[in-house]
Amino acid sequence: MEKYKNVYVLNHPLIRHKLAIIRNKDTDTKQFRDVVKELATLMAYESFKDVPTQEITVETPLEITTQTVVKENSIAIVPILRAGLGMVDGILSLFPAAKVGHIGLYRDEETLEPQEYYCKLPSKIEEKVVMVVDPMLATGGSACDAIQMLKKRGCKRIKLMSIIAAPEGVDKVAKTHPDVEIFVSTLDRCLNEHGYILPGLGDAGDRIFGTK
Ligand code: PRP
Ligand code: URA
Repeated sequence: MEKYKNVYVLNHPLIRHKLAIIRNKDTDTKQFRDVVKELATLMAYESFKDVPTQEITVETPLEITTQTVVKENSIAIVPILRAGLGMVDGILSLFPAAKVGHIGLYRDEETLEPQEYYCKLPSKIEEKVVMVVDPMLATGGSACDAIQMLKKRGCKRIKLMSIIAAPEGVDKVAKTHPDVEIFVSTLDRCLNEHGYILPGLGDAGDRIFGTK
């Protein structure tokens, strides 16, 4: 995004195709969940392009060679509950050894302020690249609070991955945390009076877990 150096809109035709599926109100819970997971994998490919690496020795059937692999113990994924859970397996499919932490936040329906109810993070998280995941970045309140909680724990390399973002949310996170890279697959038009993203996809948590 031109306005901010730390915001990336991952505008790939395959991502746009899958976005159209999850936006559709007639997409059922199973397909919604499957496509959220696939989007997380596609987004991870791009968002982790500066992942820490290390050299290892590999013996091919013909000779010994030095190869580059993802550095051991270097990545943590932190979903914001509930909806962020839907993105975890998509990232783990690329980084099966990543550790997973959980931050529980829900938006107060009146004030839209995030309320914390859970936090369990992997040990030595401060040494890892931490990817916060939440499909929806609306006012940005939840993402800002989650990032602040991680910074309090000493995390220095934090990224945020959200499938759909509103300009209001991107502004808030980019200004409050200019050191955090923000990866989104689309920047939607605006928020409505209830804090929902337009055109958006509705309530991501409800659509992933079939709760409405
Ligand atoms: C949704 C969404 C984000 C948050 C985004 O969660 O998954 O966490 O709202 O809104 P914000 O940017 O304005 O903070 P919600 O609070 O509905 O909880 P849920 O995932 O448990 O449904
Ligand atoms: N949370 C959602 O799940 N959807 C929105 O549009 C905004 C916040």
